[in-house]
Amino acid sequence: MIPVGIITVSDRVFRGEYEDKGGPALKQFCEKRGWQVTTQAVVPDEEALIGDKTQELAKSCTLILLTGGTGVTERDVTPEAIRAIASKELPGFGEVMRLKSFERFPHAILSRNLAAVVGKSLVICLPGNPKGAVECLEFVVDAVPHAVELLQGNPTSHQR
Ligand code: MTE
Repeated sequence: MIPVGIITVSDRVFRGEYEDKGGPALKQFCEKRGWQVTTQAVVPDEEALIGDKTQELAKSCTLILLTGGTGVTERDVTPEAIRAIASKELPGFGEVMRLKSFERFPHAILSRNLAAVVGKSLVICLPGNPKGAVECLEFVVDAVPHAVELLQGNPTSHQR
């Protein structure tokens, strides 16, 4: 069982101006795979608040999914917030998410989405577009259980 935390990063959702669609979309995806979403949160596009919430969830969630704030505008700071608290970055996740998305449309390379290790948790930063967030997660999902097993220190067969 993989306890999952989901964080929607968005000033407008946080202020109640937009409905959170990304969080529920990711929750549905996780539950279809039998993963338990134990925590959902919404934070504004503020580095410190993104980092604090991620570290809080890392105490109980082995997988943390963030959606939003991976782009190019001034308020897009999710990658910086996660890099500031991560012990390792897993560049392959971002590479695959961008490359596979780019096969469908050119704007995909505007996302600085990434995956990193925070504590013993796997953190994946996804685009804010709900469809895009699920799409990007789908591209890398098959590596998640193995990564979580390794981070939790559980013996696991290294599938080649
Ligand atoms: N990747 C996929 N698969 N689907 C998407 O809709 N949105 C793109 C990009 N990557 C998208 C995507 C766009 S338009 C932007 S601006 C960047 O993600 C960053 O989005 P964010 O700032 O909401 O994180």
